[in-house]
Amino acid sequence: MAVISFARGVPAPECLPIEELADCARGALLDGGAPVLLYGPGGGYGPLREWIAQRHGVEPARVVITSGSLQGFVFLSEQLVTPGARVFVEAPTYDRPIKILRRLGAEIVPVPVDEDGLLPDELPEGDAAFLYTIPTFQNPTGRTLSVERRRRLVELARERNLLVLEDDPYGLVRYEGEPLPSLFELAGGEGIAYASSFSKTVAPGVRVGYFVLPLELAQQVEALATSTYISPPYLTQATVHEFLRRGNFEPNLERVNGLLKARRDAMLEGLERHMPDGATWSRPQGGYFIWLDLPEDAPPLADAERAGVTFVPGTDFFADGSGGRSLRLAFSYVSPDEIADGVARLASAIPAPASL
Ligand SMILES: Cc1ncc(COP(=O)(O)O)c(C=O)c1O
Repeated sequence: MAVISFARGVPAPECLPIEELADCARGALLDGGAPVLLYGPGGGYGPLREWIAQRHGVEPARVVITSGSLQGFVFLSEQLVTPGARVFVEAPTYDRPIKILRRLGAEIVPVPVDEDGLLPDELPEGDAAFLYTIPTFQNPTGRTLSVERRRRLVELARERNLLVLEDDPYGLVRYEGEPLPSLFELAGGEGIAYASSFSKTVAPGVRVGYFVLPLELAQQVEALATSTYISPPYLTQATVHEFLRRGNFEPNLERVNGLLKARRDAMLEGLERHMPDGATWSRPQGGYFIWLDLPEDAPPLADAERAGVTFVPGTDFFADGSGGRSLRLAFSYVSPDEIADGVARLASAIPAPASL
């Protein structure tokens, strides 16, 4: 029996625009010429930097394109975090930043969340190097911060002079509902560090992520990038730029969102059909993930891998190891049919509550 993976938060192979990217890579090299193959500014390939700057209404010097947005997170954290510095994070949050912050010696301070995202009025007291938040289709919960809370968070951050890092790789991966303004937009582009990526909208393997930062911070992060790898790989950045220039981005995104919606629907249907009473789960309008909370009274999950399905345990997403009753289920990678089977397998690994 082949194992069905709800662990892999990556796009299904059919989401990847292979032929178009192959053409764009060729076009990018032939049109871009030598600069695409030489060293250059650490902050990224000029034409793509300009495109991103225009999209976000800032000057190009405030944009730093990194080898995936996670690399940018490392640079930014290296710049802002000294050992013992506090960093506020949603509880739960994306697991990789937790590991990076730990490595840098940060004190990771959890911010409480509910179904509508973090609770701005429950931000911990005191200073922090920054608040890390994923307001839209969060990894791992799929939850989205409401507009009211976005406004309140921006207001509080301004009052407290707290830098907010808005990580937004899933904002455009919306297949239902109205797009919400980003924190960056609500703040008029000031006081919010904004990060996004082409990993979910084009392909993760191109490793093209970016940050829009206050000018001084952008210059510091660019200097760190230069001292780490001289310049990032321009070939993939130029390929993404060519993809945008040719108008491939929007139609590809629409196609990808359709493929993801079918997967999200299959998972919601399977959960509805197979989960026991008392289990609850998120219902995201986009992104890659559903967060499943098992019933309070259920005994611990049996070995799901033996039942033929994998997922990431909730504990990975809390700095303090809580989350033992929760699971992150990624629906992005497997097919709708596999999702239906996988949810049935998962349910078979949930023991019935012990009878009295
Ligand atoms: C919230 C979040 N931020 C960042 C990343 C990493 O993106 P990139 O591929 O641009 O490094 C991911 C990838 O899953 C993610 O879920």
